[in-house]
Amino acid sequence: MQKKIFVTREIPQIGIDILLQYYEVDIFPKKRPITKEEMISGAMDCDGLLPLLTDKVDAEVMDETGIKAIANYAVGVDNIDVAAASQRNIAVTNTPGVLTDATADLTWALLLSVSRRIVEADKYLREGNFLGWDSMLYLGGDFAGRTIGIIGLGRIGQAVARRAAGFDMNIIYHSTSPHPNLERSLGMKRVSLEELLKESDYVSIHTPYNKETHHLIGKKELEIMKPSAYLINTSRGKIVNEEELVVALVTGKIDGAGLDVYYHEPKVHKGLIDLPNVVLLPHLGSASMYTRSKMAMMAAENLHMALSGERPENIVNPEIYDK
Ligand code: GLV
Ligand code: GLV
Repeated sequence: MQKKIFVTREIPQIGIDILLQYYEVDIFPKKRPITKEEMISGAMDCDGLLPLLTDKVDAEVMDETGIKAIANYAVGVDNIDVAAASQRNIAVTNTPGVLTDATADLTWALLLSVSRRIVEADKYLREGNFLGWDSMLYLGGDFAGRTIGIIGLGRIGQAVARRAAGFDMNIIYHSTSPHPNLERSLGMKRVSLEELLKESDYVSIHTPYNKETHHLIGKKELEIMKPSAYLINTSRGKIVNEEELVVALVTGKIDGAGLDVYYHEPKVHKGLIDLPNVVLLPHLGSASMYTRSKMAMMAAENLHMALSGERPENIVNPEIYDK
């Protein structure tokens, strides 16, 4: 009998076409995140599951459906109970690498938008307020000679650092491991989180979300930052205490923020919506056409390898093969 795959939402067809060569493929048809009940009923008796980062895949989903492999359509796997998958010998894969540049680009789009007040100024013009060049109109921040603090120096953090070097910035980073070669080539320095927060004009977050990074940036950390500093988050919302971020923005503890991710995604804190000094995007980090197609191909190939008994290239829980 042909094996079956359940895909929790429409993804680029190029990935579906790969799966269709080998499997029967069922795609959740609605244009909204799937509920857990819908995921369980859709994936019932399927061999493989291809979920999005919006879909929480827990032990119950695994046990109810009997899936044998999960190919997450994302680099972050915080939506999946990986430990539960490992206990059940279920392979979990992700899509690292292909979305690095797109996410780093979007980080820069936020840095530039917030600092140079792009969104506010665009709105001002559209509302018919532009009456001629004005030497005091929408004055913003600088990049050359300023300091960017990068929290987490994985692939995306490194790509942000390379872009920062192109903007002639001082680069400091906080990471569990040192990167001496990059320090030399980009002239950057590894510092403690406290020093990074104290020194940076821009703080950009690029760690995965897990128990250690939950609320990594809270009241104390925001208070250490410069009042003129900006916070950019394109990783995961729960790394920042959003309540405290709103307080910091309202009380001028920091100058602004650029966010692509939220604590209660897709809900966005009402306090953020009301603030002019933040730019808010609907989780677009990897949203370039090329990247999303590559992610679809990668997830499909990962799933096929896992279901063929081979070790997928992007395995998140390799321990299931080393038992
Ligand atoms: C996006 O947020 C991802 O993890 O791929
Ligand atoms: C993403 O690809 C990362 O590891 O930073």
